[in-house]
Amino acid sequence: MEALLKKETKFISHLDGKPEMLVCDGLRKVYPTPKGDYVVLDNLQLKIKQGEFVSIIGHSGCGKSTLLTMIAGLNNISGGTIYIDGEEIDGAGPDRAVVFQSPSLLPWLTAIQNVMIGVKQVFPRAGKAEKEEICKYYLDKVGLGNDFHKRATSLSQGMQQRVGIARAFALKPKILLLDEPFGMLDSLTRGELQDVLLEIWQKEKITTVAITHDVDESIFLADRVIMMTSGPYAKIGDELIIPFERPRNRKHVLEHPEYYDYRGYLINFLNH
Ligand SMILES: Nc1ncnc2c1ncn2[C@@H]1O[C@H](COP(=O)(O)OP(=O)(O)O)[C@@H](O)[C@H]1O
Ligand SMILES: [Mg+2]
Repeated sequence: MEALLKKETKFISHLDGKPEMLVCDGLRKVYPTPKGDYVVLDNLQLKIKQGEFVSIIGHSGCGKSTLLTMIAGLNNISGGTIYIDGEEIDGAGPDRAVVFQSPSLLPWLTAIQNVMIGVKQVFPRAGKAEKEEICKYYLDKVGLGNDFHKRATSLSQGMQQRVGIARAFALKPKILLLDEPFGMLDSLTRGELQDVLLEIWQKEKITTVAITHDVDESIFLADRVIMMTSGPYAKIGDELIIPFERPRNRKHVLEHPEYYDYRGYLINFLNH
């Protein structure tokens, strides 16, 4: 445990020398309610490096989705600033892709058509064949190589979420934002999708922020786990660097002598 807390000794080699990709400076969010203003987040500071994978954990209602949707540009900021790649954000943009808990596919379209909608918006000048190539590449990567032309309604929830992941990566965003992406899936499917996500991430090294309420998932995926305090006035309470080697292997992670120290540290935070 001692060693665990000496953060300066932990070194994530793939982040060495990388610039900040996401900076939240003094972020504040107030929701007006019939009983008066509710301050969800207050003076929240967060910096994430290019290519970093960060998990965010915190109690239900603390403001995780609020934070993520503000970064996505889908939710107004009440105070402070969000910078992406050095630029202050102003609304949503193709530099950020979001995957929510429910897949939100257009049900009457096929898997490839669902991915194509976004690809057409982001790469309007690419030829038809090139766009199809991109869609197929990512659908194949998420394990849907034989399902391009299946309608969304005929896909299982896990398969729909695979399409959601393919769609997000196909947009070639600077940042991938995931809000409890596997929260509705059974544990076997969840494990498969964690592997799929990490495999593509390992190749593309897109800066990723994943909210999860699953402590094991947060460790397995991330370079750093960020712990949010409970609201109101939530902020970053603590963080834990996860230095396990990449590419990650579930068995190696679970068998790592420090695994249960990390797990215990996070659970302890949540229990206080
Ligand atoms: N549009 C809204 N108006 C008022 N209150 C909201 C709104 N959205 C969320 N909240 C409240 O803000 C808090 C944080 O919500 P949320 O960001 O969804 O938390 P989390 O994702 O951590 O569970 C909760 O108390 C929630 O009830
Ligand atoms: Mg939420």
